[in-house]
Amino acid sequence: MIKHKNILQNTLIALAILLTTTSFAQGKKARIIEDFNKNWNFKLGDYPSAPQKDFSTADWRTLQLPHDWSIEGTFDKDSKTKQAQGFLPAGKGWYRKTFTVPASFKSKTISVEFDGVFKNSEVFINGHSLGIRPNGYISFSYDLSQFLNFGQPNIIAVKVDNDAQPNSRWYTGSGIYRNVRLVISEKLHVAEWGTFVTTPEIYKEKALVHLEVEVKNDSDREKEFILVSTIFDKNNDDVAEVQATGKIAANSSSKKIQDFTLKKPKLWDTENPYLYKIITKIYEKGELADNYETPLGVRFFDFDAEKGFSLNGKPTKILGVCLHHDNGALGAVENIHALKRKLVLMKEMGVNAIRMSHNPHSLEMMQLCDEMGFIVQDEAFDVWKKKKVTNDYHKDWDAWHKKDLEDFIKRDRNHPSVMMWSIGNEIREQFDSTGIAITKELAKIVKSLDITRPVTSALTENVIEKNFIYQSGALDLLGFNYKHEDYKDFPTRFKGQKIIASESVSALETRGHYDFPADGIKAWPPKHGAPFDGNADWTVSAFDQVKSYWGATHEENWKTIKKQDFMAGTFIWTGFDYIGEPDPYPYPARSSYFGIVDLAGFPKDVYYMYQSEWTIKPVLHIFPHWNWAKDQEVDVWAYYNNADEVELFLNGKSLGKKSKQNDDLHISWRIKFEPGTIKAISRKNGKVVLEKEIHTAGDAAKIDLSADKKVIKNDTYDLVYVTVSITDAAGNLLPTANDLINFEVSGGGKLVGVDNGYQANLDSFKASSCKLFNGKCIAIIQSIGKRETIKIKASTGNGIPDAVLELKVD
Ligand code: GAL
Repeated sequence: MIKHKNILQNTLIALAILLTTTSFAQGKKARIIEDFNKNWNFKLGDYPSAPQKDFSTADWRTLQLPHDWSIEGTFDKDSKTKQAQGFLPAGKGWYRKTFTVPASFKSKTISVEFDGVFKNSEVFINGHSLGIRPNGYISFSYDLSQFLNFGQPNIIAVKVDNDAQPNSRWYTGSGIYRNVRLVISEKLHVAEWGTFVTTPEIYKEKALVHLEVEVKNDSDREKEFILVSTIFDKNNDDVAEVQATGKIAANSSSKKIQDFTLKKPKLWDTENPYLYKIITKIYEKGELADNYETPLGVRFFDFDAEKGFSLNGKPTKILGVCLHHDNGALGAVENIHALKRKLVLMKEMGVNAIRMSHNPHSLEMMQLCDEMGFIVQDEAFDVWKKKKVTNDYHKDWDAWHKKDLEDFIKRDRNHPSVMMWSIGNEIREQFDSTGIAITKELAKIVKSLDITRPVTSALTENVIEKNFIYQSGALDLLGFNYKHEDYKDFPTRFKGQKIIASESVSALETRGHYDFPADGIKAWPPKHGAPFDGNADWTVSAFDQVKSYWGATHEENWKTIKKQDFMAGTFIWTGFDYIGEPDPYPYPARSSYFGIVDLAGFPKDVYYMYQSEWTIKPVLHIFPHWNWAKDQEVDVWAYYNNADEVELFLNGKSLGKKSKQNDDLHISWRIKFEPGTIKAISRKNGKVVLEKEIHTAGDAAKIDLSADKKVIKNDTYDLVYVTVSITDAAGNLLPTANDLINFEVSGGGKLVGVDNGYQANLDSFKASSCKLFNGKCIAIIQSIGKRETIKIKASTGNGIPDAVLELKVD
């Protein structure tokens, strides 16, 4: 452990730094990071001369990035993207933008950073091609400096080619669907993803923080510099600082190491995600040349073959969900507000971990996981050399996998939330011996950049002799997808190995749809290749009754996992419905049924099963709704916790008390429907914990609009989600209402998406109207940069009075 001498040295160095750094420019920022999303021109199609100066974009659209053109399209049964991608169009498109950089920036390094372009992008500046990037999920940048006309207009053009289809098993979106920034720094600067922070030793009294900084000199002269890195706590107080000096040859880069002692470190965990930050400053001749921020979370974790996972020494079950990257009605368009809404819903359900299925996600996603306290399994690939669909990443594997994997690790390795590197999901090479060499190669690449997190892969084959990825011996953590019946054998079969259920469940539900009787479990297809015997309206019961043949119901799965102490935890497939993969139904189903929350963001009932198990807050959730035919036999289920029993009442009459037996996760009653009120009371030691009631709704009387925010920012990005429903005169939701709602939005916002979460809804996500589905739909409004009250008018045109909601823009 730490030697006394080191502590003394560190203290002396810290003192010396305190005395010397005060003379440097304070508060000044050398690095300028500009939002580069605004004022792009866009047109679908191929325009090879678009990079040229005299090319006219007069008939192109002007838009703000991030942008996804697929989501603007119409669903087409014959679409080349096929069912897996939700029958939406793909194709080719071009973006072009004119911008000016001040003449005074001539001496600087100017780069453009793209967080993700789907896919096959080629970027041109003033007619010069800067490069191509096939991978649609990877972040990349280009140095523009030598091609810029300073003080004069410059033209940046981006070709996006998503034409070769099908190329994915889920919806990808098309275009520059993540943020773009212009980064201006001095010639002497921190390289792209140029820092790497680790915390090699953590004690109560102190933590050792190790920072590697890659300093880059883009000039043709040797440079001397002073490097000062300061750790700031959450209150922005500087709590540790280290200084180094160096010399760097022309047009080269050099790595510097900075070690800190952080006193009484506050630990990052999922409940209290305490974040520090490190600001690294480079000074040249006393002048600030660059300032660069690195997030810092102090935490330690362990995967144990017998005891599972622990975080900061505390046994912690990984209660995770897999998420795809789309934002429902926004398509692949990345927006931090949309992400936050999703993550808040997950947090409230009790989720403590996210698996980034099956590709690098956005920078904002990683930042939010740090800030909100999610453990991340960061995943690089869904395919290696062997394809899953005709035009997927296997075509780019040879030329790009090394660079893509390296860039992915470099971008994400400073995020304290990241605790596992997954090198692939259900990779075909697990079934043949080529899997051995590739696994070894990929693990080696990861280890060359980070040895602090285990390398894992999500495997389907759990028979040792048949799994060549496992046989490579290069995985630190075994991830297994599905086959929950086999988990109990793993400790003997994989003796001494650390294990996580990297993917589980794949059960199906449609929000608000109930088939009776609610007992009995149906798997689809009953036999491989056989059609699914489902509902004529492409719905699936929300009673957790239908599962894929390789999966399990939510309850079956959780009952199994909670008993396996050796297992680090699981990631449920999936937290949210996503566009594409609408199995088990064919067209017109266009989005998935696997989510615990639907595509519009409305929780399905099983959400509360998890909440009752994964949180300590009191939960009592009863369902279904209470609008049925007289005398119909209805099953009523309750998910609850923190109570010994639940008593159910129908119109004031007790239907008896029930409590969960053995490993039950819900209780149920079968009753004859009569209109009125169904009420549940949960009690502990005879004391009421919670009460819940549902009333039979009468005739439609009102449109109810409820926004998730009262005030929205005047920044052209902020979003407000407005939930629309119809109620009777007493305010009871009409649970089966399917009225068409027309929207008119004026003032400082615009309608950017509508959805009702119905998996077979073929109306456009960009329409100005939306049909309610099982009583609800959502309208998403985005700020347009006008400080004017937003008015949202909703009307049905069928006799129900219009409703108007006003939102402030700040
Ligand atoms: C898994 C796969 C996921 C998704 C899921 C659907 O095997 O890893 O990407 O396809 O099946 O059940």
